[in-house]
Amino acid sequence: MTALIDRVPALLGRARALLGLPPGPPDRLAPSELRRAAQAASALHEGLVGRRALAHRRTYDDAAHLGAYLLWWWPQTYAKVQAVLALARSAGTLLAIPARPRTLDVGAGPAPAALALLDALGGSALALDASAAALSEARALSGGAVGTRQADLGEGLPRLDGEFDLVVVANALSELPPGSRAALIDALPLAQGGAVLLVEPALRETGRALLEVRNELLRSGRWSAAAPCLTQRPCPALEHPRDWCTALHPWQAPPHVVQLAAELGLRADEALAYAPLVLVRSVAPPPRDVWRVVGVPRPEKGKKRLFVCSDQGRVPVGRLDRDAVPTNADFDRLERGDLVLLGGVARKGDGLRVGRESEVRLLEGGERAQTPTPSAEPR
Ligand SMILES: C[S@@+](CC[C@H](N)C(=O)[O-])C[C@H]1O[C@@H](n2cnc3c(N)ncnc32)[C@H](O)[C@@H]1O
Repeated sequence: MTALIDRVPALLGRARALLGLPPGPPDRLAPSELRRAAQAASALHEGLVGRRALAHRRTYDDAAHLGAYLLWWWPQTYAKVQAVLALARSAGTLLAIPARPRTLDVGAGPAPAALALLDALGGSALALDASAAALSEARALSGGAVGTRQADLGEGLPRLDGEFDLVVVANALSELPPGSRAALIDALPLAQGGAVLLVEPALRETGRALLEVRNELLRSGRWSAAAPCLTQRPCPALEHPRDWCTALHPWQAPPHVVQLAAELGLRADEALAYAPLVLVRSVAPPPRDVWRVVGVPRPEKGKKRLFVCSDQGRVPVGRLDRDAVPTNADFDRLERGDLVLLGGVARKGDGLRVGRESEVRLLEGGERAQTPTPSAEPR
């Protein structure tokens, strides 16, 4: 099976060509090219955070920005999309996906998301983007396995043949006009039993914008949120202007990403942070008393407090140290993103209280290093 590390020699080769660097080692950056590569990554990074001046469809017509994207963002998107795929699978939403799925990558750029899904699942993939240069890299990096179609998605979806089992929209929704985003998702030709995987930057503005799109689509009655949400109600994080919902988990960054992170003073090689969402046509209601851990503030003296989210809302849940007993011991192991069963908990103020008689059971704990761990800023 092809993995991210197998894609690195081609990524480095294409990035060097775009950045005008001479050929170098296949698995890492040579000391002589590290500074120039880091400068290009830094220029793009600055333009994609803060005021996001480079978050638009003409950015990748610039060869230096496209080369920097291949080096720095491409591997991160690949790993994030495979993590959201694992999240979708653990939510039971991939059961009806055929053995050779048809995948559509919307706002694909050089198609890290399409290749992440092809490498994990096989099948076929079509990439849509406004940038001819980015799509040309998608074809080169995939050896022609990813089909491409140039389209301005701000004008809506182009006409497409047939339906798709998986649609992925990674770091692209927030580059489209706000009024067009929900309509674009709503128009997707999704096959019965299919799923839409969305990934957005972990910034507050883009994370909250994704939740607005979620709410609009769920209101239509045509879509359901399969993960990380355990509720089909309006997202409770939007009730507070400082909350949103992001995943944060460690990953195995390729050596050249570790080199660039050290050069740039960034920590993207240690952990991936992003806003995930899996949409489907319908979901079964979640089991009673199951909650998603969405925030883990620092421990306080004499007690521990978490934020959890379910159909009952997004609430704090606390346990006094003196109430720690074996039946609630899993409370100490909980991390952001975990699914947890909270039995026999009492309402206390605006939250929940775990007592000596409560049951706390960590569900799905075994895959925590691989699966996304949604978090929200504790308020
Ligand atoms: C940040 S890149 C994301 C690329 C890739 N999906 C990823 O996650 O790594 C955003 C992509 O959206 C594309 N894009 C922005 N506005 C667009 C539009 N109006 N129509 C089509 N593509 C657009 C850009 O060309 C760019 O390739």
